[in-house]
Amino acid sequence: MAAAQMPDSAQSAVVQAGGDCQELQQLHIYFGSQTGTAEGFARDLGDDAASYGMNVQVHDLEGFCPRSFASDVRVAIFILATAGEGEPTDNAAGLHRWMLKVTPEASLTDLTFAVFGLGDRTHANFNPMGKLTDGAMERLGGRRLCKLGEGDDSDDIVRDFQAWTSQLLWPALEKLLGVSVSTGGEHLGSESHLPDPVLRVSANVSTLPPEGPGKPADVLARFYFQAEQVRVTGVSELRQSPSPEEGLSTVQVDLDLSAAPGVLAGYVAAGTLELLPENSPQDVAAVLPLLGISEAAKPGDIGDLDCCITFVPVADGELRKPFPTPCSLRHALTRYCDLRRAPTRQMLTVLQPTLQSAAARERVARLLADRVAMRLLQHEALAVSQVEFWAAFGVERLDLSAFLLHCPRQRPRPFTVASSPLASSSRLSLCVSLTSHLEQDPSPLEQLAGLLQARGIDLCQWPERPARWFGLGSKWLCTQLRPGDSVLARIRPSASRLPSRDVPVMMVAAGAGVAPFRAFWQELSAAETARTSPAVLFFGCRHPDIDWIYRSEMTAAAASKPSNAELPGKASLAELAVAFSRRGEEGIYDPSGCCGEHVQDQLSARGAYIRSWFQGHGVMYICGSNQMAQGVLEGVSKVLEGGDLELQRLKAEGQVVVESWGEAPKLPPELAAHGFRAAGQSEAESQEAKVATLRLARSRVVWHSMRSSLEVVTVLLSGCGQPERQVEKEKEKPFNGARMDEESGSEAGPSAVIAPQSLSDFSVSDDVYLVEFYHPLCGTCQEFAETFAALKLALGSSLKTVKVSIEDAAGEKIAQEVGATDEGIPNLRLFYKKSEIKGALVMANEDPLPSASDLKARIQRMLGGPKDRYFKSGSEEV
Ligand SMILES: Cc1cc2nc3c(=O)[nH]c(=O)nc-3n(C[C@H](O)[C@H](O)[C@H](O)COP(=O)(O)OP(=O)(O)OC[C@H]3O[C@@H](n4cnc5c(N)ncnc54)[C@H](O)[C@@H]3O)c2cc1C
Ligand SMILES: Cc1cc2nc3c(=O)[nH]c(=O)nc-3n(C[C@H](O)[C@H](O)[C@H](O)COP(=O)(O)O)c2cc1C
Repeated sequence: MAAAQMPDSAQSAVVQAGGDCQELQQLHIYFGSQTGTAEGFARDLGDDAASYGMNVQVHDLEGFCPRSFASDVRVAIFILATAGEGEPTDNAAGLHRWMLKVTPEASLTDLTFAVFGLGDRTHANFNPMGKLTDGAMERLGGRRLCKLGEGDDSDDIVRDFQAWTSQLLWPALEKLLGVSVSTGGEHLGSESHLPDPVLRVSANVSTLPPEGPGKPADVLARFYFQAEQVRVTGVSELRQSPSPEEGLSTVQVDLDLSAAPGVLAGYVAAGTLELLPENSPQDVAAVLPLLGISEAAKPGDIGDLDCCITFVPVADGELRKPFPTPCSLRHALTRYCDLRRAPTRQMLTVLQPTLQSAAARERVARLLADRVAMRLLQHEALAVSQVEFWAAFGVERLDLSAFLLHCPRQRPRPFTVASSPLASSSRLSLCVSLTSHLEQDPSPLEQLAGLLQARGIDLCQWPERPARWFGLGSKWLCTQLRPGDSVLARIRPSASRLPSRDVPVMMVAAGAGVAPFRAFWQELSAAETARTSPAVLFFGCRHPDIDWIYRSEMTAAAASKPSNAELPGKASLAELAVAFSRRGEEGIYDPSGCCGEHVQDQLSARGAYIRSWFQGHGVMYICGSNQMAQGVLEGVSKVLEGGDLELQRLKAEGQVVVESWGEAPKLPPELAAHGFRAAGQSEAESQEAKVATLRLARSRVVWHSMRSSLEVVTVLLSGCGQPERQVEKEKEKPFNGARMDEESGSEAGPSAVIAPQSLSDFSVSDDVYLVEFYHPLCGTCQEFAETFAALKLALGSSLKTVKVSIEDAAGEKIAQEVGATDEGIPNLRLFYKKSEIKGALVMANEDPLPSASDLKARIQRMLGGPKDRYFKSGSEEV
């Protein structure tokens, strides 16, 4: 409810608190939220406050009324996110404007307040809305209830919020309101919600009542009503060598604005487009049994996916619309329900009493009473989906209406506009790269189940997960979206815009981070008023033949001749520098990246150039992943005379502008393999469990550069191998240091036995070593043993094939030194002391395991150079 409609204090409830009958002051919780996180926190807080017997109201800041706030509100809690670059969320714009202009005469001396700000520390300006509000309320005479709370969305924002509420807010409220709060206790009930509207279903839209007046139910619903439908005109792959199944795809998506009636048509180069992703048909199909829907149901049945639905209010109540209707059930599940997110507290509170199974009701009740368990289940690193959650809690059927109303809402994803309206006013382009990673095996979900069990919540089986995790929106855009489809989108301003003054512009990007700069070079080449200051682009990718996106456009923009010789800046790019992180010697692809270069390396090598750039009032734009942006900023701060302080100044003055986005979040510490210890388990048992976990673990692939002085080479091997018998025999050979199972030695070139005490043991001779790091108890390593033996046979004579067990301390140390333990086992590498080609990581922890012929082909590709460089003769086919 908006502040303008707040009930006055006369409506404060009289409740029983701590045995005394007291009149409670009303607690007002306000939220400023763009994508629903702050709103969720505010609603959960309201729920908790109500369950502790407090008299509470939760307010969307949209329509904030300063006058009634000042006159009616005595206790206020603000939960505020920051959007844009340091800007308020759309719904908090009114509060923001008021705070900036209000004078201390508009005194809030009767107000007691607390503020929690949601932000992201990777942004230049962390949590400005929280800080501004905390300061403004104090300046206006308000009394601070507790210290400003800050949540960092680049880390664990839910943990930050829980810590702030349990350690600061609840104790302070207990004192102020005289109620008893038990933060660890049972969840008693919930804030009185408006009754849910009623679902109406029909085979035919004409027989449904028209959607009546009402308000969007929450900030995300507001997006659905405000955003515009836009038609897709093109989806084209930009990588030279894409492989979507391995997570490697970058596409350009073109949207047709000629028919877009609203603000989209007035888009600006490098602005931000918020786009609502869609669930895949497979994800929708997976949730149907839970909702009692069958794709084979008769048209018009409630179980028919193509039936039409709408909601009507109960009696004369106000309709709070979850999403636009009438629409088909398929559309509602595809577009508006976030099926990849675990249920929220609010969803569970509503659905728990309706669950048929008593055991499931009990499990969910326990979960609702356990904040730690709740936080873990909702942690984004675990990405527990609706289907996974309900299966694990033993729930087979949910009420369709309640599900549609309370399932977490789908959030729009922001993308940087990669085109300029000056180049094409009716077409807006995006450049999107696929987000993905290999799932950990064993899955942390298993550990989560163990941890919950120790907390008294006994889960059923988790459904099996595919080996690779894909981001929802980027997968949809890269693999499903087709020309002719339409998408729901809205435009937002962005900090990345060309400077209005004619100053030098330096653009630094990697991968899809080039999006705003494509818009810039289009803008620059089309600009009517010519700029004379240069614009330069530093671009990073892996390899020119693999993922140099926009290669021809970029090089053409750099090569374009000035249309007027007196305007040297008319060429849109005065300079183009490209860094290839995986290009090895002689231009071959080198997966280890040891010889490669990143954009920051190029910048660091040009210290004087960068300094003169800033002295000439130049602006540097950086765009790409958080990790890339961090690397570039560190590189720049090193070459600046004032170091980091100077960099901060340049950022504050708008001479350095960063737009970056996320990576895989870290697992919560409770679930890190080393830290997991179930309650009641002794230290020794826990240690044993840890060792077992480590033995069996095949951790996520992380590509590392070799820091060792030892050179690693790519090799192509030849000759014939030794018989299996010999492999077995040599496996047993004892060594004085780490156990190294040497499998080489053949007619063409017998191997020396080396005890690998250290890395240097691999360079005692001129031999090439193919080394497998493994653990004898690792199931996958055991599975791989045959392949390794076959590979050895195929590769042959002039190398030593060696297995190093990480069970032994020395072996583990070497594996750690080369990064093999981080990359996961089994881990296959090539070592050669004299080669100039570095970084020969052949394979790490792959699923499914590659075949011997695949590995051999990889090794051949990795070598790329003359075959006899390292090998004596041709190899056999596997
Ligand atoms: C201002 C802005 C501009 C952007 N512009 C672009 C652009 O031009 N082009 C572009 O491709 N992207 C851009 N992004 C990123 C984009 O918005 C999406 O975040 C990205 O496409 C992933 O969305 P998704 O739906 O595929 O993943 P989701 O399903 O939303 O999953 C991503 C979430 O999962 C978690 N996660 C788990 N594993 C990973 C992983 N391996 N990598 C990343 N996240 C992981 C993260 O915490 C993240 O919150 C931009 C982001 C912002 C904030
Ligand atoms: C486009 C965008 C811009 C953001 N800008 C900032 C910022 O300038 N400073 C900051 O601390 N956090 C920033 N954030 C982080 C959000 O405040 C944070 O993710 C918050 O949890 C979002 O809450 P919400 O879901 O309620 O909108 C930004 C997030 C996005 C998506």
